[in-house]
Parts: sequence; structure tokens; C-alpha cells
Amino acid sequence: MGTWQTFDTAEDRTGIVHEALSVGMNLFDSSPMYGLAEQALAKALKGRRDKAIIATKIWTGSPSEGREQANRALRLFGRFEIYQVHNLVNWPAQLRLLEQLKGEGKVDAIGATHYDPSGFDDLCDLMATGRLDMVQVPYNPRRREAERRVLPLAAELGLGVLTHSPMRYGVLDRQPSPDAIRHFGVRTWAQAILKWIASDPGVSCVLTATKTPGRPTENAQAGDPPWFDTDQRERLAALAGATG
Ligand SMILES: NC(=O)c1ccc[n+]([C@@H]2O[C@H](COP(=O)([O-])OP(=O)(O)OC[C@H]3O[C@@H](n4cnc5c(N)ncnc54)[C@H](OP(=O)(O)O)[C@@H]3O)[C@@H](O)[C@H]2O)c1
Repeated sequence: MGTWQTFDTAEDRTGIVHEALSVGMNLFDSSPMYGLAEQALAKALKGRRDKAIIATKIWTGSPSEGREQANRALRLFGRFEIYQVHNLVNWPAQLRLLEQLKGEGKVDAIGATHYDPSGFDDLCDLMATGRLDMVQVPYNPRRREAERRVLPLAAELGLGVLTHSPMRYGVLDRQPSPDAIRHFGVRTWAQAILKWIASDPGVSCVLTATKTPGRPTENAQAGDPPWFDTDQRERLAALAGATG
């Protein structure tokens, strides 16, 4: 579950987090870029931190601010299962920090993210150095650039891949009729989109975000097999208005 926008609030998000955990959605992605999100997530996980996989980020050009972000997040979460350089911002300095934290046993896996395909060449160059355990990129039927280089390279190197923005780039604007999606074995268009992404064998985890009760359950249902085959994926991409 992502926390961008949906957790940047002083409102209590315990209900959403508990619903997510109850349906097996246990990886939570955050960042200092998301305002109050890390704090809201930590509060909502009170007493259940051990049930969650925390994937947060360092997001600053400044090495000293990066260290402060890590100290603040360590106070909130204790340690990190995944720690990422957000959008490759000053990655030489911030990756050194993450490597140091990993060496101290405070981080299990380190990675880097990018929000835009224009950053994929730099991301791939960094992947090729062997210093990352995982990456995070946008991926949905209308945003398929990751298929060209990032996903194949991650598979070749054995890196984990988190994907973000499943509902963005207009996919929710083109909702086909319930009849058109019934053949795909899903109930809702959002589930069809999420299953389309999860059906790519190169994807380790699909991040989606919500502040609406009931949606964690709806979204988690898309995480169960059977997966879509190539033909189903292409038919669904056409329904989503993908241009190829
Ligand atoms: N560069 C980066 O590292 C980067 C960039 C982007 C995102 N991310 C991470 O990835 C996470 C996921 O990306 P995202 O936030 O763009 O997620 P998303 O799931 O694509 O978009 C979230 C929006 O979709 C709506 N939504 C969720 N489930 C729905 C459903 N079943 N039916 C209809 N609408 C639904 C939500 O509305 P409601 O709240 O009303 O349900 C929310 O407005 C982020 O939260 C963030 O943690 C990282």
C-alpha cells in the first residue's frame, strides 16, 4: 500500500492500515516527500509494526538532511525492510547512507525509485553497478515504458521490483462495461488493472493507495492467481486505451 497523498494528514489512518493487514496487504511505501505520511503510517501501525514491511525513502539533495530523515524514520519504525533513494535525488550521497545503514543492520534491502521514464536510463545504469537490491517504477497498461529495459534488467540481475501509479495516467477514465471485464475473472475495473500489473512475472509487488474503507479489500483481491496470460494482458491493455 502506498501513502502518497492518502496519508499526508493528521487524520487517523488506523482503520485503512488494519483493513490492509487483514487482507494480506502488508508492504507499506512512504517517503519524507509525502508530508505527514510517515508519521500517519507509524501511528496507524502502533502495536503491529512486526506485521508490516516498511519501504520508505530518503528524499533530499543534502547529505545532512538525508541523515536527519533517516534518524526521524528510525525513531518511527525502528528499522526498515526496504529503504530507497527517492527519484534518484543526490543518489551518490544518499546511496552511501543507505549502504551504511544496511551495514549497521538497520535496513534489509536498499533500492532506488523514479517517477518518470525519462529517468530510466540513469536508473538502469545504477542497477548495473550491482549496488541495489530493488527498484520502484511506474507501471500500468497506459504507462508501459518499464517493460523495455527496467523489468528485463531487474530480472537478469535478480532485483525486486515495486511498481507504483497503477490507477494513474487515465486508466480509471476509461471504465469498460462490467460485461467487458467479466471474462477476466475480476469484479471491478480497478481489480483488472491491478491484476494486469501483478500478472507480469517481473513485478514483485504492486503498490496502490487509498483512503477509502473497503478499497484495500477490493484491491487485495486482485493479488490472487490465476494470473492473466499474454493474450489477456494485451486485450485488457486495449480496453484501457493503451497506445502500445
Ligand atoms: N517516485 C516514487 O518513488 C513514487 C511515485 C509515485 C508513487 N509512489 C508510491 O506508490 C504508491 C502508489 O501510487 P499511487 O499513489 O499513484 O497509487 P494509485 O493506486 O495509482 O492511485 C491512488 C488513487 O487511486 C484511487 N483508488 C485506489 N483504489 C481504487 C479503486 N479500487 N477504485 C477506484 N479508485 C481507487 C485512490 O482514491 P481513494 O483514496 O479515494 O480510494 C487514489 O486517489 C504511492 O502512494 C507512493 O507510495 C512512489
